[in-house]
Amino acid sequence: MSAQYEKLMKCYEYCRTVTDFQPKVGLILGSGLGNYAKNMRIECEIPYGDIPGFPVSTVQGHDGRFLFGYIGDVPAVLMKGRVHYYEGYSMEEVVLPTRLMKLFGIEVLVLTNAAGGINRKFSAGDFMMITDQISNFVPSPLIGKNVDELGERFPDMTHIYDVELQQLILKTAKEEKIPIQQGIYVQTSGPNFESPAEIRMFGMLGADAVGMSTACEALAARHAGVRVCGISCISNMACGICDEELSHLDVQAVADKRAGEFERLVTRMIENLN
Ligand code: HPA
Repeated sequence: MSAQYEKLMKCYEYCRTVTDFQPKVGLILGSGLGNYAKNMRIECEIPYGDIPGFPVSTVQGHDGRFLFGYIGDVPAVLMKGRVHYYEGYSMEEVVLPTRLMKLFGIEVLVLTNAAGGINRKFSAGDFMMITDQISNFVPSPLIGKNVDELGERFPDMTHIYDVELQQLILKTAKEEKIPIQQGIYVQTSGPNFESPAEIRMFGMLGADAVGMSTACEALAARHAGVRVCGISCISNMACGICDEELSHLDVQAVADKRAGEFERLVTRMIENLN
């Protein structure tokens, strides 16, 4: 057994002393979407700090806990707050929670984030369904001894974002009359926002939005055979695309303002999974 899997099993075993809830769907909430819990019939909570060896977030606006319960009729586990690479954790640690949700039993992972818009057709406040990603600017979370218990050494990444789940997001958005963009997400290490030159480069590479999370979690989930989908809230236009300087507070304020509609989209989409 790899050291990584052993650590994961310790976390898992602790959580199973608290609850035997079997979620089918995992949901990771990004900045500004931290109040999602009200859309859920909660059965049990586990603060990250209670789980032995679990990475605990230090970012403002990221309250850390797993919530187990039902979204509609769908048993789900919600990650209220995630950890980021820029906090100083290794990529292995950053994706530990994702892998733990796989052990809880999830088959589908819904990733959400706040992101900077690179595509000039986007505006701050838009939603973007992620169709593919660029993750090469941060280390792969799969580096190191392969966790054979979860997946193979060289996993295919042709369809990181599940085609059927993408169709479900688009159908749900249409039904709910929520406009939605589509595009490619690029992950940077953060914590600094990007320079205008970096944003121009990402644009030339085909990226539509940039953020500091998500792609690594998508990789870890795909490695473990979990079906993945993702939606970004474009909380700002990226540096150099807009004239103003960027601040975390402004980013959070836009995400907060859009939270209601974002939550509705995510909730209906998960309910439609049944
Ligand atoms: N860049 C990187 N990450 C982000 C941004 C951005 O402009 N906005 C929200 N998260």
